[in-house]
Amino acid sequence: MWLVLDGEGSLSRQVYRGVREAIRAGRLAAGARVPATRALARDLRVARITVIQGYEQLLAEGWLETRRGAGTFVSAGAAVERPAAAAPPSLGVRVSPARPRLSAFGERVLETRGRPLLSAAISTRPTLPYDFRYGTPAILDLPTTAWQRCIGRALRRASVRAYDYGAPLGNPALREALAEYLARSRGVRCAPERLLVVSGSQQGLDLAARVMLEPGATALIEEPGYEGARTAFRAAGARVVGVPVDAEGLDVVAAEAAAAGAGGLGDVRALFTTPSHQYPLGAVLSLARRRALLDFATRHGALVIEDDYDGEFRFEGKPLETLHALDGGERVLYLGTLSKVLFPALRLGYLVLPDALVEPFLRARLVADGGLAMLEQVALAELIREGSFERHVRRSRARHLERRETLLAAAARHLGDAVEIVGSNAGLHVVAWLRDVEPAALRRLIDDAAARGIGLYSIHPYYETPPPRAGLVLGYAALTPEAIETGIERLGALLRGRP
Ligand SMILES: Cc1ncc(COP(=O)(O)O)c(C=O)c1O
Repeated sequence: MWLVLDGEGSLSRQVYRGVREAIRAGRLAAGARVPATRALARDLRVARITVIQGYEQLLAEGWLETRRGAGTFVSAGAAVERPAAAAPPSLGVRVSPARPRLSAFGERVLETRGRPLLSAAISTRPTLPYDFRYGTPAILDLPTTAWQRCIGRALRRASVRAYDYGAPLGNPALREALAEYLARSRGVRCAPERLLVVSGSQQGLDLAARVMLEPGATALIEEPGYEGARTAFRAAGARVVGVPVDAEGLDVVAAEAAAAGAGGLGDVRALFTTPSHQYPLGAVLSLARRRALLDFATRHGALVIEDDYDGEFRFEGKPLETLHALDGGERVLYLGTLSKVLFPALRLGYLVLPDALVEPFLRARLVADGGLAMLEQVALAELIREGSFERHVRRSRARHLERRETLLAAAARHLGDAVEIVGSNAGLHVVAWLRDVEPAALRRLIDDAAARGIGLYSIHPYYETPPPRAGLVLGYAALTPEAIETGIERLGALLRGRP
């Protein structure tokens, strides 16, 4: 039968959907005559009125047309959708090939399809016992009991007003708690009115891109660098120019050269940097470079976007002031996230904004989402206020320190000269450059490792221009010391056993 009733909803809706799907699938061609209502009702064993109602809807929407005296036909303009030639990378969304025209922004966003945005990467990844994926928290480490208590309290104590639209900058109690926490832990001093709570730092980057960059404007970003920033800037239509990174972090002299190439003073609008632990290489931006960078920002009239994504986890060396603290916060937009200290699914982050940018960012956020969900914000404020949050940060730091030491010792023991490890004195990952593996052979190594239960991830996607050597980003935050030891031992055996 060319027409299938799907059993959902009223019979007339089923007839409507069945005929529509037959047209879409090409079983009924444009111009073809459809059965008379009486005949179809008989075949389907339904009342004629049911078919009439289904046809009426199809006529109203233009799928069918009547020709006087001749009957009812599939409209000439009823498009047949064909399956897409190649399925788009899975974000769990099906994209119809017969889509309406997109804006230039929409087209640019689609062009980012091949890029490894974290959320997309996670959904397709099988779980492995020794998974060195960066960005996953250890669920067992989370302060679940305290979090449940704070969520419960937030619910029980919610007043009638709490159910209304919230403050557009974010929940006031949370902004106050975060402002105090940032002053205590990171030396970032700001009034709560300059703090904008966002749904993860990714929303902060998107807002920054839309408020600060127009198509053709230049944005500088570390190379290699954070894909979330690069993608947001590209989506805004900016010219994204990479600035090389060395052992002291972002190379400010190279930033000057990039700015000169972009047209000179005044043309660079924004510069994205991860000074406390360069993502992904792990360098800590030196004090001299911090000063030079702020000077660069002043001379060029550019905004520095300081992403302090894992600033809580510092294991060696003198803590350096954030760019925000060094500057006083007029040239620097400070970006923080709860994804590393708590968990990514919380989708909470914050911006500390220069005074002059509070209003445009706030207006842009109101256009985007009208504010965030209330419950998690209130619970987080409570978690910080009662001290559980900082206790958790301290415990996490101790645990991550142990995991880092296990990783470094295991790498020295089992990998030896086969790797060069960099970026280990802060953060939740290290980079391992592989001395005897050609970049072209890395995919094979990653596949062989996966077959042995080891999850490995190339550093290449973080580069615009991939380097001539093979490297891995090894995240260790979610693995027990035992799993780290075994995983690295197995990796060593795999590297030694390669032809
Ligand atoms: C450099 C960097 N910034 C920020 C984030 C956090 O992003 P979000 O707050 O959107 O989860 C990550 C997460 O992996 C990161 O690597």
